[in-house]
Parts: sequence; C-alpha cells; structure tokens
Amino acid sequence: MSRIAYVNGRYVPHSEAEIHVEDRGYQFADGVYEVAAICLGRIIDEEQHLERLKRSLRELQIAMPMADAPFALVCREILRQNRVRDGILYIQVSRGVARRDHPFPEDIEPALVMTARASNWPTDPDSDSGSKVISVDDIRWLRRDIKSVSLLPNVLAKQEARDKGAYEAWLMDDEGFVTEGSSSNAWIVDLEGRIVTRELDPRILGGITRATVIELARKNGIEVVERKFSLDEALSAPEAFLTSTTSFVRGVVSINDKAVGDGTPGPLTRRMRGLYFEFCRGAGSNI
Ligand code: PDD
Repeated sequence: MSRIAYVNGRYVPHSEAEIHVEDRGYQFADGVYEVAAICLGRIIDEEQHLERLKRSLRELQIAMPMADAPFALVCREILRQNRVRDGILYIQVSRGVARRDHPFPEDIEPALVMTARASNWPTDPDSDSGSKVISVDDIRWLRRDIKSVSLLPNVLAKQEARDKGAYEAWLMDDEGFVTEGSSSNAWIVDLEGRIVTRELDPRILGGITRATVIELARKNGIEVVERKFSLDEALSAPEAFLTSTTSFVRGVVSINDKAVGDGTPGPLTRRMRGLYFEFCRGAGSNI
C-alpha cells in the first residue's frame, strides 16, 4: 500500500509530496512540529499534543492553520488513508511561503503537512533491555520549550550517540546538569526511591510523555520531584530512564559506558514502563 501525505489541503502520494523551495520552514527552520503515537487506533494524549502545537505557534506568532474540528478530521483522515492502527502521526506547521527575507512577511498563510507511519510498538513492558546514553554539551538555543523544527544540535548529538554505539545523548548545561535527551526527557531514581526529572522552563521541551508519566506515578503513590540533576548524580543513581512519544519509557543502563545501578532497567523504571503501556492501551484519548 502506498503512503499518503497531507500537504496544504491535499492528500497526495508520499513520493509526490512536496513543499515550495521558499517555504520558511525549509529556509529558516521557521516552523514547529508534533509527533504523536497511535496505539490501537487512538491518538495518545491528542489534546495535549494539540495544546502544545498551539502554544509553540503562539510563541512564534504563527497562526494555527485551521480550526480544531477540521484539524482533528485531517489527523483522522491521514491515519485512515495510511491504515495506521499502531504508529506515528507527524504534524508540521511552518510560517508559510514567501520571498526570502528574515522578518515575518505580511499576509502569509501557514503551511501544514501531516504524515503517518505504521510501527509495531512493543506490548511487553519487560521487552526493554535498556539503552546506553552518552553525554554531550547542550549547544541549542534558549527556547527549547518551543517544539521548533530547528533540530540541528539534536541531530548532531543523536549522531554522536549512534557513532558511539549509544541510543541517546543526554545534553549537559554549563553547570554540569542534564537538561534532557536529544529527542527525549531524562530521568533518574534518587536514593530515597523518588523519580526525578528536570523542572519545566525554557531550557527543556515539556514532553507530553513526561507529563503523563508524572501523573501516572503520582496516581500510583510514587513520589516525583521536578528538579535538576547532575551527570554525577545520574551515575550514582540506582536507576535512570528516558521518555518520549516514540520511546515510551526506556531504561538507561549506562552513561558514557559507566553502568547505572546494576546495568539493567531497574524496578521503578519497569513499573513506570508497565503503567505507561497500560495507559496507552486503555486510556489514550479516543478517535
Ligand atoms: N521528540 N525533548 C526533546 C528535545 C524532544 O525532541 C522530545 C520528543 C522530547 C519528548 O517529548 P514527548 O514526550 O512529547 O515526545 C523531549 C520527538 C519524539 C521527535 O522529535 O521525534
């Protein structure tokens, strides 16, 4: 079955899906995106993804390309046309097309692209054998709370991780604290058995998985602390893990080739992965 993409009002074969050479997303990274997971035909945390998209757009003074109801219809239609029951929905909005010039052009229409792709998500919480992480300097701009398509530092960090045989790169601020991963949020378990992740501010992306994991933990009597942690603290923590839309909850078993805990995903990590899987299979918002 050939894939279909949505591009500015049209459903087109993926291989023919094109944007204009003067799209500002392409020329200036002047745009934002969302990635949502689809589980059992449902868009997980749909409302939260929509709210974050609107917030990112607002921060950049880009208009939402359409009202909520037609937007939700396009999301469903792209999933239907690509027959995605389990997979990923990708949404990108750029400021639009205009003659290249830095300031915002007047009377410009935002450009909207959506794609969907099937993926076989794991269903067994114990399927995670744990991931290796490396640390690199966080060289990004200071508005990481905006989910901008300007991802070059993230790409370079992830490539460095791959080159070193690791799954993810944890990004380090000037003071030796971990901000987040190149495409995920970073967590540890402290010596008192609380789970710890950096507080929200413009230095990290407010992950939708992060928010859901915090809620699930608290509902299940697990204490969560939102504060910075250093690389040294992570290295001596009993457990570490990462979260994102496409990685769900994954154990971090080494950082820079030094084992975290006993070098396997720890009990709280596995518990959170289990709770998150349960949430995805049951409670994600309904299509
Ligand atoms: N990335 N931090 C960064 C820098 C990210 O790029 C992501 C997600 C996250 C986790 O956010 P969420 O839980 O909402 O997925 C944190 C997506 C998956 C991506 O770029 O593919």
